[in-house]
Parts: sequence; structure tokens; C-alpha cells
Amino acid sequence: MYTTILNYDIFEGLKKIKDETIDLLVIDPPYNIGKKYEDGIEDKWKNQDEYLKWLYEWLELSLKKLKKTGSLYIFNSTENMPYVDIFLKKHINILSRIVWGYDSSGVQAKYFYGSLYEPIIFAVKTKSNYTFNYVDIMVETETGSKRKLIDYRKNPPSPYNELKVPGNLWYFNRVRYKMPEYVKHSSQKPEALLERIVKASSNEGDVILDLFAGSFSLGVVSKRLKRNYIGIEKSSTYCSIGKNRIEEIEIIEEEKK
Ligand SMILES: C[S@@+](CC[C@H](N)C(=O)[O-])C[C@H]1O[C@@H](n2cnc3c(N)ncnc32)[C@H](O)[C@@H]1O
Repeated sequence: MYTTILNYDIFEGLKKIKDETIDLLVIDPPYNIGKKYEDGIEDKWKNQDEYLKWLYEWLELSLKKLKKTGSLYIFNSTENMPYVDIFLKKHINILSRIVWGYDSSGVQAKYFYGSLYEPIIFAVKTKSNYTFNYVDIMVETETGSKRKLIDYRKNPPSPYNELKVPGNLWYFNRVRYKMPEYVKHSSQKPEALLERIVKASSNEGDVILDLFAGSFSLGVVSKRLKRNYIGIEKSSTYCSIGKNRIEEIEIIEEEKK
């Protein structure tokens, strides 16, 4: 198993990856909302058209890196995602449009409905051949089984299932200051959310490519779940934070019976 950190601009980093070698591609790019990242990297383009031009260019290149059986998850803002969706539909099969809902971000909107979710697109290269380990991501049901109901639609009638496959509405708290997984990064994605993606859409030994790796939380999760990992990130500060975090993960091998 390996973990590789590529400290490059996205276009340079992508040149280092061979086509059709990636099982799972996860992309969490800057959203063009004016965030300031380390090492002078700004999340701001002249306008949305300029931003989308940049995004389409690397997105098209990155799709070539996926194996025929590969899967893609891409994050973006509610404002940009419709354009990403239209672009992707021409290149890959979109299977789910996920809503990641979270707790309030502190400052509350008073003159409109504040945004409390981010969209995520899940897509696959080949509809008839891709990994989806639904058993590994089952969650507790919140209705029938808790009330000990019997499902009379089943033959013979039997108790409601206690577990179900999650739908496309996900709820994970955002990563905040003083939470155990927190590092100094303003867009750090929750490990629990990334874990769902990795478990569902890859197997042990598969290769995961993380574009705009940031805090390298996906590297941490990938190593813990015994997946190979390659992360591309332009900031050397974030790359060294990531390196330290990933090195701390100990792989505990299951005891062989
Ligand atoms: C939305 S954040 C990613 C957060 C990450 N997924 C996490 O969980 O921590 C976007 C990242 O893209 C990096 N970045 C911005 N422009 C870049 C570029 N041209 N090439 C590579 N990385 C870039 C930023 O430094 C920032 O860490």
C-alpha cells in the first residue's frame, strides 16, 4: 500500500498520473468564494465564466485518469454545481446528486435563507461495471424498526429492517475548531463523510486520487481503510500538515484466524 503527496498546481500534478489508473477520484476544488488559503493561494477568479473555464479544463483531464470501472465524487457550491452537472453529463454517468447538509455556520442570514448544504455529484465511467459496497455503509433506520412495526408487505410479514442504505440526503457536522480531527484549514471535509465515500466506492488495495487535497483528511481515511492514495495540493504548508497526519495513522491488521 502507498500514500503519495504531490505538491503541485493541479495541471502539473495531473501530468504525473497515468490515464486509466484510478479507481476512485474525489475532487473538492476551490469554489470561487474568496477564501484565503495558505501560501498566498486565493479562491477568487475575475468572474464565474473565468472560474468555470479553469474548472472544465482540469476536470476533463482528470476524468481520463479514471479506470473504466472507476467512480467520481465532486463537491462544489450550490451556485456552481448546475454548470458542473451539465458539463459532466457529456462525459460520465451521473448516478446521484447528493445533498450534504450540516449545522449552522455561525453567522446567520437574516434577509434570505442561509445556505446549509453543499451538493456532491457521484458519477461512474461505466454504468454496468463499478464498485458500490452498499453493505459497508448501511445506517440505522429511524422509523419502522424503532417502533417495532411489522412490515405486512413482506411475505411472510416480518419486522422492519434495522439498517438501510443511505439515500442522497447526508448529514455530517462540519469540522470545527477543537474537534479532534481539526487542523488549520478552512474547508476541511469531515472524515466520517469521506469514510462513506471510500467504503462505498472502493475496495482494499484500490487507488484513490484526491484533487485539491487541502488538509489531506482523505489521505488519513484512505490509509486507515487500506487504500492506496495520491493527493494533489498546491500549498506546501498543507502538504506538510498532511504528511504528518498520514504518518501518524497506524494500520492495525486484523488478527488472522
Ligand atoms: C476546498 S479546499 C480542499 C479541502 C480538502 N478537501 C480537505 O478536506 O481539507 C481546496 C484546496 O485547493 C488548493 N488549491 C487551490 N488552487 C489550487 C491549484 N491550482 N492546484 C492545486 N491545489 C490548489 C487550496 O490550497 C485548498 O487547500
